[in-house]
Amino acid sequence: MAAPIAHGVRTVGVLGAGQMGLGIAYVSALRARVPVLLLDRSKDQVANSLRFMDKLLAKDISKGKIHDIEAKEARDRITVLDYDTQGIKGFRDVDMVIEAASENVQLKRSLFKSLSEAVNPDCIMASNTSSISITKIAAATIPEGVAASSEQGRKFAERVVGLHFFNPVPVMKLVELIAALQTSQPTLERARAYAVACGKEVTVSQDVPGFVSNAVLMPFINEAIMTLEKGVATKEDIDKTLKLGMGHPMGPLQLADFIGLDTCLAIQQTLYQGTGDSKYRPSVLLERMVDAKWLGKKSGKGFYDYD
Ligand code: CAA
Repeated sequence: MAAPIAHGVRTVGVLGAGQMGLGIAYVSALRARVPVLLLDRSKDQVANSLRFMDKLLAKDISKGKIHDIEAKEARDRITVLDYDTQGIKGFRDVDMVIEAASENVQLKRSLFKSLSEAVNPDCIMASNTSSISITKIAAATIPEGVAASSEQGRKFAERVVGLHFFNPVPVMKLVELIAALQTSQPTLERARAYAVACGKEVTVSQDVPGFVSNAVLMPFINEAIMTLEKGVATKEDIDKTLKLGMGHPMGPLQLADFIGLDTCLAIQQTLYQGTGDSKYRPSVLLERMVDAKWLGKKSGKGFYDYD
């Protein structure tokens, strides 16, 4: 039998310390046992995330899932980069960067352009995007005036890949792996090996809007929101129907709160714009809730209220 492909990641960079970035840093440090450099422009976000990580580690120790030495080693593997003095340049020596910023195509393209100028040419640049084209993100790494087919044009683009984790990352067992048109086979194999080292199972999706997961999940969530909008049932009964009737771990409205209503809306807009298919059109209620900054669990209010 052939030996498994090594991910070759001696240090990983995680760009974005929100709920996804924190989870990716957590499984990288605890499961893959790789040193992590964490970068976010918000110091408060980083501080909150690290507090939450300490809570998770303490809970795992108290449940006997990990030894306290393991937890300490994992925590010690995480270094926070200073946004003002180091910024993206702080990733210059890492072997892989996993980007987990907001679901915004312009933001991601600009981050990948900066990354390609900062990292070494062997570094894999992965995006945790839930729906945006990996091919479009990879194209942002090609310098102005350089042909995409040239060696320089391919140098960074072939190392861009989609690694889509699920929330909560420490619990959900899946990573979706997405190749851009430009992604090289060694990049794909190393990215897959890294996800496996993080304790995940891997499925492969083509680079279509929403990939497999959100092309299926978002119409389901949107249909639940429109069912509420039409007054067919209360939010509690809609969620209870899917939870108890179909065995889902949480109902679709609670799940939308949990993902973040702004993220759900951004994914639905990408699906709708990318396909032109009206089944992906976001509901008016979802748009209004995001307008009101009712973003779900993270903002304390969504379909439900949170402490
Ligand atoms: N971070 C880390 N661990 C968490 C957590 C979090 N935010 N929330 C819960 N957990 C852990 C708990 O600590 C607990 O761990 P132990 O088994 O060690 O005790 C375990 O998860 C179960 O938690 P609870 O008993 O408190 O609650 P539960 O049984 O209701 O499970 C849940 C919580 C795992 C979140 C479950 O409700 C669930 O699976 N929900 C569906 C989640 C889902 O569908 N996620 C995918 C969203 S889509 C996405 O992320 C991608 C995208 O592109 C939009």
